[in-house]
Amino acid sequence: MNKKITVVGAGNVGASAAQRILAKGLGDVVLVDVVEGLAQGKALDLMQAAPLENYRGNISGTTSYEESANSSVVIITAGIARKPGMSRDDLLNINKDIVGGVAQQVARFSPQAVLIVVSNPLDAMCHVALGASGFSKKRVVGMAGVLDTARYRAFLAAALGINPSEIQAMVLGGHGDTMVPLTGYTTIAGIQISSFLGEAELRSIEERTRNGGAEIVSLLKTGSAFYAPASSAVLMAEAIISDSKRVLPCSALLEGEYGLNGIFMGVPVLLGAGGVESIIELTLSPAEKEMLSKSAQSVAELVAKLKG
Ligand code: NAI
Ligand code: 2OP
Repeated sequence: MNKKITVVGAGNVGASAAQRILAKGLGDVVLVDVVEGLAQGKALDLMQAAPLENYRGNISGTTSYEESANSSVVIITAGIARKPGMSRDDLLNINKDIVGGVAQQVARFSPQAVLIVVSNPLDAMCHVALGASGFSKKRVVGMAGVLDTARYRAFLAAALGINPSEIQAMVLGGHGDTMVPLTGYTTIAGIQISSFLGEAELRSIEERTRNGGAEIVSLLKTGSAFYAPASSAVLMAEAIISDSKRVLPCSALLEGEYGLNGIFMGVPVLLGAGGVESIIELTLSPAEKEMLSKSAQSVAELVAKLKG
């Protein structure tokens, strides 16, 4: 029997994620949205692509969580996205109520699911989903590091004219302007990135990565990125569904790791059927430690606003 994956929010990221799940044959998809007809219409459209694309999984769309019952993985993309001039943090007040309500419903109907949070501001929304679902910390994980790292690898690959899959990298920290690309862990076929690119070019690619989301918002003008975000969330869902124990940068609740406590932030995570099966602690340079602690501080400030 196919596993069930629910995607909440049938907007740009959610619908693209549903399509990627079907294309990869990860299971059956239930698309949920608060807007009557939206998830149903997109699900029907995707279902009609099945004969052309050879999708094996079924897809349905709904406004109710009953159909999503007993999902193995739930991807939460519900909420509003950034418009030009808005930061991820501007979304805080609106999305906290949306994500809180969604996580409660998901926990009621799929008590064993692993939640992949996508809605922004990402790390703060993970706190909301954890609290509202009542799930253990292992079953609430945020998508940001996979996307930020993909952007970093894509920019490096373009600068070097090489295949992005040859580049190994990790971008940690909160999903925001304080994210931390780890130069020391960035390699091409095991060779340090500093052998290929000078300091100035590396710093400029890191800066472009930090602004990767905003660059797309300013071009689109009516919303934010969705193809790479959907691919990132589905990569995480695949690791959980197939129990592949992949090490991916994800937002996880830290309880002492990296010297931080009670905060969701992007760190290397072993992702498998149980969700966050462990957090991997890397040795960081003093500069990287300082950047990570600044990033943690900005996440903590947002989380404090949630409580305010
Ligand atoms: P969108 O506006 O295209 O879609 C959001 C959908 O959520 C809409 O269809 C809306 O009707 C639905 N929705 C709103 N309230 C709901 C509720 N209570 N229950 C169910 N559905 C509800 O936005 P898009 O582009 O898909 O982005 C979704 C979220 O993901 C935004 O918050 C965005 O900032 C975030 N995002 C996060 C990324 C990350 O790296 N973590 C990357 C890209 C987007
Ligand atoms: C992004 O990084 C908006 O968080 C979203 O594209």
